[in-house]
Formats: sequence, C-alpha cells, structure tokens
Amino acid sequence: MAKVPKVFNYYDYFSRYREIIPEFDKFLEYLKVPHQQYFRINTLKVDQAREELLLDILKSKGVRLEKVVEIPHFYKVINNEDISLGNLEEYSLGLLHSMTLSSALPVIALNPEPGDLVLDLCAAPGGKSALIAMTTEDRAITVANDKRIDRLTALSANMKRLGVTSVIITHYRGELFPLGISFDKVLVDAPCSGEGRYKVGLEGDILYQRGTGKSNLPSIQKGLLVRAYDMLKPGGFLVYSTCTINPEENEEVVDYLLRKRRAEILDWSCPLPYYPGLTEWQGKTFHPHIAKTKRFYSHQIRAVSFYIALIGKLY
Ligand SMILES: C[S@@+](CC[C@H](N)C(=O)[O-])C[C@H]1O[C@@H](n2cnc3c(N)ncnc32)[C@H](O)[C@@H]1O
Repeated sequence: MAKVPKVFNYYDYFSRYREIIPEFDKFLEYLKVPHQQYFRINTLKVDQAREELLLDILKSKGVRLEKVVEIPHFYKVINNEDISLGNLEEYSLGLLHSMTLSSALPVIALNPEPGDLVLDLCAAPGGKSALIAMTTEDRAITVANDKRIDRLTALSANMKRLGVTSVIITHYRGELFPLGISFDKVLVDAPCSGEGRYKVGLEGDILYQRGTGKSNLPSIQKGLLVRAYDMLKPGGFLVYSTCTINPEENEEVVDYLLRKRRAEILDWSCPLPYYPGLTEWQGKTFHPHIAKTKRFYSHQIRAVSFYIALIGKLY
C-alpha cells in the first residue's frame, strides 16, 4: 500500500520555540504574510546623484517604494503583490539587486573594507558577495566559494549583471577549502534548514526536520565553521550566519567552535532589533559569551529570520 505523506503542521513544528521566540503568537501570524520584497541600489552602477532618478523611473513603472532608513541604499516594495523585481529591465541591467533585508546584516557585521582579502565560503548565488563588492566600491578581493557548480553559474551571472570585478570564484567543499592563504575576513552563510524563510503554504522550504535523518546539517555547519576559522589571519574576523531559528544549527555550532579553538565572540553595532543568542537549550548549556550573538525574528524585522555571530581570532 502506498504511503500517505505526513502533512506538515507548522503550528506543531514551531511550538518547540514557544519559549524562545518573543510574541510567539505574532510570529505565527506573520508566517501567513507573503515574503516582503526589498532591493538595494547597485552603487557600482548608480552613483548617488542618479539614485533619485532611478527611483523615479521605478515609480513611473508602478513600483511603490519606501526607503529603509536603517540600512543605506535599501528600499521596501510597498505593492509587494503586484511587482516582481526580477522582471524589471532595471534588474536585468544590474541597477538594483533584490535581497531580503536580513541578508544585509551578515555583511554589516563583517564590515569589509577596501584592501581586505575576504573569503565567502558558501557564497552562491552571490547576494552577499555582491554586497561586499558594493560596500567596498569593488576594492576588496572576495573569494566566492560554493560546493554546487549549478549555483556557482548563477553567482557568476549575478556578478556579471551587477558589474562586480573583485570576486574570484572557487568550487570546493568548504570543509576542505585548501589551507595556505589566510584571509582578513571570512563569511560562513551556512547551508541550513531555512526555518526563517518558512511561510504557510511553502512547506518545502524547511529542509531539515528532526528525525528524518536525511542530512546532518549541524555536523556540516560545524565542519564549515572550524575550517573558516582556520582560514583567518590572526586579528581577522569571521561571521557565521543562518536563516534558521534552530539552536542546534546556531548557538550549538558556535559553542562547538569555542570548545575547539580559542575564538572570541564579538559585539557589533546592529541597525535592526534583535534578541541575544541563547546560553541554554533543551538541557544543554552554552558558553556565556554566546549571548553576544544575535537572533532576528521575521515578525519583528519584517524580513527572513536570521542568526548572526561575529567571531574574532586574536592570534
Ligand atoms: C544560504 S546559501 C548561501 C547564500 C549566499 N551566501 C548568498 O548570499 O547568496 C548556502 C550555500 O551553501 C552551499 N553549500 C552547502 N554545503 C556546502 C559545503 N559543504 N561547502 C560549501 N558550500 C556549501 C549551498 O550550495 C548554498 O549555495
């Protein structure tokens, strides 16, 4: 007899987070609201003087928008349901790039500067590599790595569209990225269960469900984070980010690094509201400094839920 697929019950699934997600009922409600579209003006192609002109052109094409005051060059699409940014000519010309607001935060935490050598270990399709290039005026060097060649093709197309010239592409399993070159800054925007992207009706978006045994994301994430740390110069900075709420993929992974290496958790100035990282979860206790890592919840920031840790290598 054919097996009946188990129906995904989001209420049951997320209930295990009732104690850690503030205003839990609002969080559940927001899961029913479609994803909010945001975009960033590509400052490599559009200078400050022409930003207003571009916004006027977008408005004339029916895009109703609002400036995101907290993050430079970001805009929110008000008539979200009527507009598909990817279909606009200005998108094809690389004048703007659509990305959820929270995607900007790992790059803000990393604070790349011109002259930096940066490794983006899980880079495809390249939203954050492109943002690194934009914020450094294409004057850092970013090695954009990913283990999936099909996604690297998309990354390459994005860099071309956006006019980015400071990105070098590599194709390694991040855990095995060759040692030998040390980086000023490393970003691990890790593969994760994607709980923070979940919307009611988009069940396929949750990749990792406890007990299915299909993939062991926490062990992959631990391998990536330790290798990323080992790729850093002394005095360098590392950002670990995920778009999941699951503490086993977040705090527990960072705690693992702290037990394996002499890494330091650092604070950073964040433009959006956040909650501190957890120092305990289901009977496990984490290093107290993990409270300096940051949790972002979708209903509060009106974007995908995220987790971000800024980590330093002292020597
Ligand atoms: C969250 S996505 C990265 C999104 C990207 N940083 C951006 O801003 O566009 C995670 C990426 O990790 C890649 N990945 C999964 N396992 C990996 C591994 N072991 N080594 C390197 N990349 C991996 C996936 O192919 C995927 O592209």
